[in-house]
Amino acid sequence: MSLYAIGDLHLHFQSPLKAKAQMKEQVWKNHEEKFKKTCAALLREDDTLVLVGDHSWGRSLAECEEDFLYIAELPGRKILIRGNHDMFWDVNKTARLNELFAGKLAFMQNNYYAYRDYALVGTKGHTFEGPFYLDRRGRIIGWDEKAEEHAKKLVERELERLRCSFEAARADGYRKYVMFLHYPPTNILEEDSAFTRMAEEYGAAQVIYAHCHGETRFHDSIEGEKNGIMYRLVSGDYLQWLPLKILD
Ligand SMILES: [Fe+2]
Ligand SMILES: [Fe+2]
Repeated sequence: MSLYAIGDLHLHFQSPLKAKAQMKEQVWKNHEEKFKKTCAALLREDDTLVLVGDHSWGRSLAECEEDFLYIAELPGRKILIRGNHDMFWDVNKTARLNELFAGKLAFMQNNYYAYRDYALVGTKGHTFEGPFYLDRRGRIIGWDEKAEEHAKKLVERELERLRCSFEAARADGYRKYVMFLHYPPTNILEEDSAFTRMAEEYGAAQVIYAHCHGETRFHDSIEGEKNGIMYRLVSGDYLQWLPLKILD
């Protein structure tokens, strides 16, 4: 029994044109086939796979049907968190998604899932990604302050959801946590953030995140151990479609 994670599958069985325009690098070529093969070789039925957001290009549940079918057929238990592209996921209706896909897929938002004596907690998160203003050498000399103000509001909302997830687990007696975010815990300007501070407050063992894809973005945030917490990027193209083992 093991816990694995990967993010940013960006499936597109029903919306191929958009994906074609956005994913031009070689690593995205037939990526669904590659991922299916690595999962079949790696995962067993008693394993858990957390999918860390950006599951589908579909804009509604109806446009994601084939993508969900593909995910449901992967081996083991599948837990999903919300990514910024997951338009099918009405944040106020996560319970409804859990009803619809009961026994096939589990959706994490304001709730938690148990893995051994750990609670898996998480939310989409948010980081301010600019626009940044650069000088001639490419150094950041400023940014769009209006966009930054808006980002602060989104961060506050996501922090509430994350706390809700931690508190639900704590109320049930859990004291060990793995925290999942779709967005990186910090942006390229930050050393720490409200998300890293919350991870430290609850004593999370690991923080797992995705969203950073394309080689230029792989090192946008924290990697490795910091203040006793292990930070790991699991976006699919970074992992070359091989899920990362998080816990035995
Ligand atoms: Fe993505
Ligand atoms: Fe994303």
